[in-house]
Amino acid sequence: MVLVNEHYLKLAAGYLFPEIARRVAEYETSEPAAADRIIRCGIGDVTEPIVPAVVEAMHAAIDDLADRDTFRGYPPPTGYDFLRNSIAEHDYRARGIRIDDDEVFVSDGSKGDCGSLLEILGGGNRVAVSDPVYPVYVDTNVMAGNTKEALEEGGYDGLVTMEAREENGFVPKPPAEPVDLVYLCFPNNPTGSTIDHAGLREWVRWALEHEALVVYDAAYVNFIRDPELPRSIFEIEGADRCAIETRSFSKNGGFTGVRCGYTVVPKKLEGRTRDGRRVPLHGLWNRRWCTRSNGVSWPVQRGAHALYSPEGIEQTSMLIDHYMTNAAMLRGGCESMGLRVFGGTDAPYVWVRCPEGVDSWAMFDRLLRKAQIVTTPGAGFGRCGEGYFRISAFNSRANVEEVVNRMRAMV
Ligand code: MLT
Repeated sequence: MVLVNEHYLKLAAGYLFPEIARRVAEYETSEPAAADRIIRCGIGDVTEPIVPAVVEAMHAAIDDLADRDTFRGYPPPTGYDFLRNSIAEHDYRARGIRIDDDEVFVSDGSKGDCGSLLEILGGGNRVAVSDPVYPVYVDTNVMAGNTKEALEEGGYDGLVTMEAREENGFVPKPPAEPVDLVYLCFPNNPTGSTIDHAGLREWVRWALEHEALVVYDAAYVNFIRDPELPRSIFEIEGADRCAIETRSFSKNGGFTGVRCGYTVVPKKLEGRTRDGRRVPLHGLWNRRWCTRSNGVSWPVQRGAHALYSPEGIEQTSMLIDHYMTNAAMLRGGCESMGLRVFGGTDAPYVWVRCPEGVDSWAMFDRLLRKAQIVTTPGAGFGRCGEGYFRISAFNSRANVEEVVNRMRAMV
């Protein structure tokens, strides 16, 4: 009989969002009259349509496929040159960051890339994640065998957790113990915190000194409003020798269903073999893509490319304004409940401290049962998330207005 990957059996609980969906479905069954009133602010899934410039480009690309002369078969596994060039030009070189087109790898999204990266890294790396954390970084390392068993108090034996709390502005410091691989996410999911240049420089300095790899998840970078904040880890000198950056078109382009993102792997970046030889990660990642995937489809890449057109930029900035106005309104709604609120100013997530003596899941239940609002319990993101909940700003204006009204009515 076939053997299974037993590391999967260590996974502590179901993935957070399906677990929330299960609890909401249970409530809908028990309270059918309330079901229609439910407003979902849990998972960060976009609600607004894809912008016209992108839709137009995707329609034209579909037409290409209907004609023998313009038909396209397999795409290049790592992305069409036109898209890699636009990404490198607009997201990096226009900001003075030296990234070559072929250091950009187009993919079906940063969530997948975060997990797949482990395929080119050796087993047994010591891994550090922040707490609270986007669960994908943890679970993919458990699946890869980089941890031991789940701990009763949360987390996994062998996984280093870096506490992100109110006291440090939800920005952890580099760990004191030796680590090979660390995940950073800014603007942060779930806390909505951001990191400044000085903070990021500290991380890069630490990573270079300890020869650690930083996976920098910048999926929410387009939501940064503060012009002083770094947009990329590669703004920091030396980061091209210690970091990989992942980005996504899911949230700024409305591509959560379409699927497209990218990962930047600099050519200078190296790992090592067990016998100490240094190996560039770029070649391994390229090889991984060429073997494992046929890339992202023509219509999707044409659509992603249109995000960088003048019309695409203007239209998506309006979309981002929409979600960030939602975030400001949700902050106000929570404050009107007398709660302490974080995030939501340079990130689409509002992170809220539960009332004294109420835990995350109890608050989730209270908001669901009393106001039919679905949030994400902070405890689902780790031990330090206990006592908080997250509200996603990805929603229609009408829904956000209704959420705020219901919150006010709960006071
Ligand atoms: C979230 O709600 O945390 C996001 O939707 C997760 C994701 O982008 O995969």
